[in-house]
Amino acid sequence: MYVVSLFLFPFLLLQLLQSGLALQNGLALKPPMGWMSWQRFRCITDCKAYPDECISEHLFRRHADLMASEGYADAGYEYVIIDDCWLEKNRDRTTNKLVADRKRFPSGLNALADHIHNRGLKFGLYQDFGTNTCAGYPGVINNMQLDAQTFADWDVDYVKLDGCFANISDMATGYPEFGRLLNATGRPMVYSCSWPAYQEESGEVPDYESLKEHCNLWRNWDDIDDSLESVMQIIDYFGKNQDRIQPHGGPGHWNDPDMLILGNYGLSYDQSKLQMAIWAVLAAPLIMSNDLAKVEPRIKNILQNRDVIAVNQDPLGIQGRRVLIKNDIEVWRRPITPQNDVQEYSFAVAFVSRRTDGAPYAITFTLKELLLMNENGYGVQDLFESKSNLGVFRPENHFSTRVIPNGVTFYKFTAL
Ligand SMILES: *[C@@H]1O[C@H](CO)[C@@H](O)[C@H](O)[C@H]1NC(C)=O
Ligand SMILES: *[C@@H]1O[C@H](CO)[C@@H](O)[C@H](O)[C@H]1NC(C)=O
Repeated sequence: MYVVSLFLFPFLLLQLLQSGLALQNGLALKPPMGWMSWQRFRCITDCKAYPDECISEHLFRRHADLMASEGYADAGYEYVIIDDCWLEKNRDRTTNKLVADRKRFPSGLNALADHIHNRGLKFGLYQDFGTNTCAGYPGVINNMQLDAQTFADWDVDYVKLDGCFANISDMATGYPEFGRLLNATGRPMVYSCSWPAYQEESGEVPDYESLKEHCNLWRNWDDIDDSLESVMQIIDYFGKNQDRIQPHGGPGHWNDPDMLILGNYGLSYDQSKLQMAIWAVLAAPLIMSNDLAKVEPRIKNILQNRDVIAVNQDPLGIQGRRVLIKNDIEVWRRPITPQNDVQEYSFAVAFVSRRTDGAPYAITFTLKELLLMNENGYGVQDLFESKSNLGVFRPENHFSTRVIPNGVTFYKFTAL
């Protein structure tokens, strides 16, 4: 026992130090799940021409209703988040407060928050650390205390703070300051920071210890667009930079590769599985951006796949990694529960094909090659074929999979 505890001590100390340094608002202990307007609806403000698409209270009420009625809420999706373009171009002349666009949000944000809360969901809102939001509406920079309090008064549960029109060298102090002001309101609000994405773009290396201390999640890199190419670029970024990014994700503080684009125009059915699988391996926030009234049933099944969501929401909160590439097949692997009696992890394993040579590609690995070393072996299940049981595999056994071009196969290896 003595030897064991000596061995465990540095690990426990590290855990203690890590939890001591992380943001302690008790929120986002699992990657946040929800829906956000940006990727699908951008800055559409012409409600005459596009009544169902413009950034307006109608859009967010409609999506709160659809989250509840179409099963998304039951699957775990929780936050309904307004992104950019919700503001009047000017603050209130007498109070200096932010004002939601009077034509597009005629009932006001408190009424919208009530609508969302009445469906058992939570309310998120976008702002920007700089003088202006990315689309040119007023930012928080000179009114941080007033704006933090206004967010609390509007019953906001989640704040996304972007970084356009801001001085990047001020971000390392300014984002923590806004976090402290949110905390000082006394209202628990998930805090999503865009600060590292802007630093990366300007060649600075983000301070992840500070991010963990001040933010519940942070955008590491570029915005996602509606294409496979964009999804693959983000996956590549997370793979290439995993040594410095992956260790910092965990309960209460997550790396964010950006929104789920499933249900839009850019991804096929199989490519939709690919984004969902890798976002699960990355312990990424699952924030959809799509028109929930128009998502095809088979894509909805991917978005609501309970087995894949369970990987994403695994309580250990360990972010996965790309562990090897063979013949243009990438292997992504995440340690998950259950752990067996000797504390070996189970694993979610995704095989991503970067091949474009046409036929599905059959490939075989020993479990050892996949770094799956549990002596008793693993029970294997295909996460996209619920109830499939592929049998028991031990470290020296061979495991074969067949992946289509730009496709994915995704399995759970349960430690026995
Ligand atoms: C950005 O902030 C730094 C430090 O506060 C300051 O030295 C610099 O002049 C600022 N740059 C701009 C363009 O405002
Ligand atoms: C504010 O911060 C303290 C200390 O980290 C924490 O205990 C508390 O829950 C936070 N409150 C809110 C509303 O975030």
